[in-house]
Amino acid sequence: MHKNTQKFVITGGRRLCGEIALQGSKNSALPIMAAAFLAQGETVLKGCPKLTDVYSAMRILTCLGCRCRMEGSNAVIDSSSPGSFSISDELMGEMRSSIMFMGAILGRMGECEVSAPGGCELGPRPIDMHLAALRKMGAEINIRGGRIYCRLPSGRARGTKISLSFPSVGATENIILCAVRAEGETIINNAAREPEICDLCSFLRCCGADIKGDGESRIVINGIENLHGCEYTVMPDRIAGATYLSIAAAAGGELILKNACVAEMEPFLSVLEQTGCCVYSSENRIYLRRGGRLRAIKNRIRTMPHPGFPTDAQAVLMAALITAEGTSVFEENIFDCRYRHTDALIKMGADIEVMGKAAVIRGVDRLHGAEAEATDLRGGAAVAAAALSADGTTVLTGIGHIDRGYEKFEEAVTSLGGIIRRE
Ligand code: EPU
Repeated sequence: MHKNTQKFVITGGRRLCGEIALQGSKNSALPIMAAAFLAQGETVLKGCPKLTDVYSAMRILTCLGCRCRMEGSNAVIDSSSPGSFSISDELMGEMRSSIMFMGAILGRMGECEVSAPGGCELGPRPIDMHLAALRKMGAEINIRGGRIYCRLPSGRARGTKISLSFPSVGATENIILCAVRAEGETIINNAAREPEICDLCSFLRCCGADIKGDGESRIVINGIENLHGCEYTVMPDRIAGATYLSIAAAAGGELILKNACVAEMEPFLSVLEQTGCCVYSSENRIYLRRGGRLRAIKNRIRTMPHPGFPTDAQAVLMAALITAEGTSVFEENIFDCRYRHTDALIKMGADIEVMGKAAVIRGVDRLHGAEAEATDLRGGAAVAAAALSADGTTVLTGIGHIDRGYEKFEEAVTSLGGIIRRE
């Protein structure tokens, strides 16, 4: 995937104080960029985070015949005259969200050729639900030599009722992307309810789409023939927000998060508050202060689809709880293999026992710096958070993973008084 040989050298033990304005959401921006392919015209995506995954999406759009550029923090995408319906193995392998182009290309061109997507190693990440749904919408799908060929015989998908066995975020997004230009009505039952789904639907509505029910389990989409471009602002990144709050909770100090989506972060904030941190929020700001030692969380922290506790915040909150007083237990219910960060944390002195879905964190007094590797995006951020709270220096390799999801990570940490250097 990313051959980034850079590393972070982090010296811990400093209280972190200051303000951070939250970046736009990665997991909104990526499906919205795929959705921009459906629009016949120019899309201006404001507040688009500058991340390696966003640049991958721009490369995909360019190879499909769109003209793309970054203007400050706006991504400008012109899909007036698409020239291809095929994405190379190499581009597909750069990130998981490349799969979102399947529904969008099919919706716009009536056929597409892709391969299995890349992305974080969180255990098996099949796309069976995506494929079954697109088949139900009339797509003929053939898989040969790792390539996936999809074709809509009549050129347009047909509306239908799809009941998902699990509220998959990606499958819900792919269905929506294919359904907005389909013939007739598509109903998704047991749809994912993540805020990023609502953001995608709001964008598509700005382009003229007819979608109702996003944010609930039943989404109804009435297909229309054409979508037009628009200007749209990406929602703030709730997981980057959870990360910076966890970093401040781990290291101690005071943080003001600006441009925060407070309501969408509630499932995380309600758990964070139980650590004894002072957390206040107003319209779009969150204030956190940690004075004394954190307290362990009494109840199991179960990751669940939204509005449950987000799996993407599991690792970063764990980093803060390593030095809390008492024992906390996580239960990871979304991905099979999302505790890979625990090896690095244990190397730094954490007392963590992983037993299947559960991870038991017994609070220790102190952590120490170590040589560690980021093995995935959120896990990498968690190790950085632990390093900022540890005694001594940590050398963190594999930071290409962190660059996939956090814009100017080291600048944000430095602005709070943390010591972090990219080498
Ligand atoms: N699943 C299947 N079959 C499918 C699709 C999903 O079995 O066809 C399983 C997955 O293997 C997984 C579970 O369902 O065990 C959940 O997967 P989901 O489809 O909901 O996740 P995703 O679309 O692959 C998005 C985010 C992830 C986030 C999850 C859950 C993007 C680009 N990615 O992934 O974000 O963890 O939803 O909220 O939106 C991250 O940002 O670090 C990240 C991994």
